[in-house]
Amino acid sequence: MNKFILAVSFIIFCSGAVVTAQSNKQILINTKNVSMVLTVGTNNRVYQSYLGKRFLNDEETRLIPQGKHEAYVAGGMEDLLQPAIRLTHSDNNPSLELKYVSHTTRNPDDNVSETNIILQDPKYPVQVILHYQAFNKEDVIKSWAEIKNNEKGEITLEDYASSMLHLEAKDYWLTQFHGDWASEMKMQESKLTSGVKEIDSKLGTRADMYQTPVFFLALNKPTDETTGELIAGTLAWTGNFKFHFEIDERNALRVISGVNSYASAYKLKKGQIFTTPAFIFTYSANGKGQASRNLHKWARNYGVLDGNKPRLTLLNNWEATHVNFDEKELVNLFDDATKLGTDLFLLDDGWFGNKYPRNNDKAGLGDWQENKAKLPNGIGYLVKQAEAKGLKFGIWLEPEMVNPKSELYEQHPDWILKLPNREENYQRNQLVLDLTNPKVADYVYSIVDDMLTKNPGLAYIKWDCNRSMTNAWSSYLKDRQSALYVDYTLSLYKILDKLRQKYPHLPIMLCSGGGGRTDYGALKYFTEFWPSDDTDPLERVYIQWGYSNFFPALTISSHVTSWGKQSIKFKTDVAMMDKLGYDIKVSKMTEEELQFSKQAVKNYNRLSNIIWFGDLYRIISPYEENRMVTMYVNDERSKAVLFNYNLNTRYKEVFNRVRLQGLDGHKLYKVQETNLMPGTKSNLSENGHTFSGNYLMTMGLNLTPGKLMPLTSMVIELNAEN
Ligand code: DGJ
Repeated sequence: MNKFILAVSFIIFCSGAVVTAQSNKQILINTKNVSMVLTVGTNNRVYQSYLGKRFLNDEETRLIPQGKHEAYVAGGMEDLLQPAIRLTHSDNNPSLELKYVSHTTRNPDDNVSETNIILQDPKYPVQVILHYQAFNKEDVIKSWAEIKNNEKGEITLEDYASSMLHLEAKDYWLTQFHGDWASEMKMQESKLTSGVKEIDSKLGTRADMYQTPVFFLALNKPTDETTGELIAGTLAWTGNFKFHFEIDERNALRVISGVNSYASAYKLKKGQIFTTPAFIFTYSANGKGQASRNLHKWARNYGVLDGNKPRLTLLNNWEATHVNFDEKELVNLFDDATKLGTDLFLLDDGWFGNKYPRNNDKAGLGDWQENKAKLPNGIGYLVKQAEAKGLKFGIWLEPEMVNPKSELYEQHPDWILKLPNREENYQRNQLVLDLTNPKVADYVYSIVDDMLTKNPGLAYIKWDCNRSMTNAWSSYLKDRQSALYVDYTLSLYKILDKLRQKYPHLPIMLCSGGGGRTDYGALKYFTEFWPSDDTDPLERVYIQWGYSNFFPALTISSHVTSWGKQSIKFKTDVAMMDKLGYDIKVSKMTEEELQFSKQAVKNYNRLSNIIWFGDLYRIISPYEENRMVTMYVNDERSKAVLFNYNLNTRYKEVFNRVRLQGLDGHKLYKVQETNLMPGTKSNLSENGHTFSGNYLMTMGLNLTPGKLMPLTSMVIELNAEN
């Protein structure tokens, strides 16, 4: 028997399936290390035959049997588990059959390949196009669907997933990230059992407050940072989402990702196309760390606005003043920013509203005119004053919202989402504007555009969104109420699209009462996001660890504030692992703290290229030990920076040496502790010495020399010798 036949019979034996794939048409979606194989069956349905590590020899994918899992199951036919798509035709027939028509693959550039597969119902003129964009270097696949109604009448989409994936493993371990205000991104891993598990949001706006649209799915056994097979997935959608995991009677798992169809049946008129948001995923055979690095690279290259460009360090006034400030106080605070050496001053909430001044969170939202008492000379004056001190100036906005105590509410009651015959329901004393109404969308656009037109020097915006969507009824949508959740998000994107056409590179922070909006649907318009209002650095260690699994460091805004009783060094070291900023009364700092902070900003400016654009290696998880260790390594592996945080460590707790990762074994690196308090010396016995990458990755460093102290930290630079 030759090798080829041997291989075929092995597959027959293992899968128990009939090998027909060789004779059928295969569609290969490949990245450097990942392969997805789809097969057109003899019945003309499309099957997912394989998803995992790419074969050494692509020819061997020909041996892969077709399998029995349809790539995009349509509801109402013989498959009785959750479908990817379910719709009702104009004649009320609730079934859909999708058969292969054709497919194309093109390569817009060296790194990206795009495969489009056209499917069509043989009896009804409904078409679905499955899109797969494969990013070679990043090992990321982006998939979405287009659904087109060519029927004479209206069809109703009941379910309309972006992606359906099938996996066959002994066991499945799901890691989800959940939380609440000020406790975002708590990581939780559980074994999936037979039947259904769903992670979803029905919050409309601030959609990710309880669950973030990201997951890891480990195959066979739980993974760690460096070992094990897993899928990491995320939905690029800033509204209600749903991940559906279902283990069938034969222990196969289907993963369906997309918009949450809850209360969202979507009608399509003749000729109308619905495009789902994208599901973005990667596969790693080497644990979570590799999956995160793949996503980070993809995000920087394709997913985040200006992902390969530097970010601004800033001083924000929210924690320091809340809404209680005036022009004079702000101008004084500019001096704090210059003292620290940050690039920008960010004026937060509280600067607007005249008839209903924004002196607390009960009034003023919607009235985006400078409050005359606080800012008699307007924003323009502040921009100039900041510029005179060598600072850029940015401003906070919450353009989608309104307080009932506002002129906007009085003038346009019909612009607000409210249920008929019901009391208004408030969160933070505010209501959501009806973005589905084009007039309202224009108004929201004009708030931002006017602000930037009047003040061309404005260099930064913080775009907030502080409530979720109760009162979910739009007077504009009339009998199309179930389109509200989807159309709201689509309209938000249209506004952002228009803004980005005019202001392509303005840095904008995505904020939603903390981390209520953290998704790649929005991030293509934003340069960074606010992960949490909880800035206690001990909490932030966990929160930032959580986000680091899916989002690159330069997107995770991380500020030194007065939350928490830890030292300024600990606070700063935590903020420095991501995008550093400040939100603290600098005048309350001791001379020593100020000196330290000034030097820290300088250090950050030196190290930020490694942190923002390097590869992240999470070495010790705070979920596993009473400490956290991570490091970033630049592309050339010539520079690295390591962060070590001792958490609530106990008396005489023993920590082992830490083996570094990601270095070049053959290079020699000088180890240098940085960010030390003035007048203190490093305890690290290796400090100032040079070691090979191999030694550092094999023997490692003792990161707890001397007495182990809770809530202490260390930042270590590694520089390769030329
Ligand atoms: C919620 C944000 O998360 C805070 O940072 C701050 O901007 C407040 N909103 C202002 O109202």
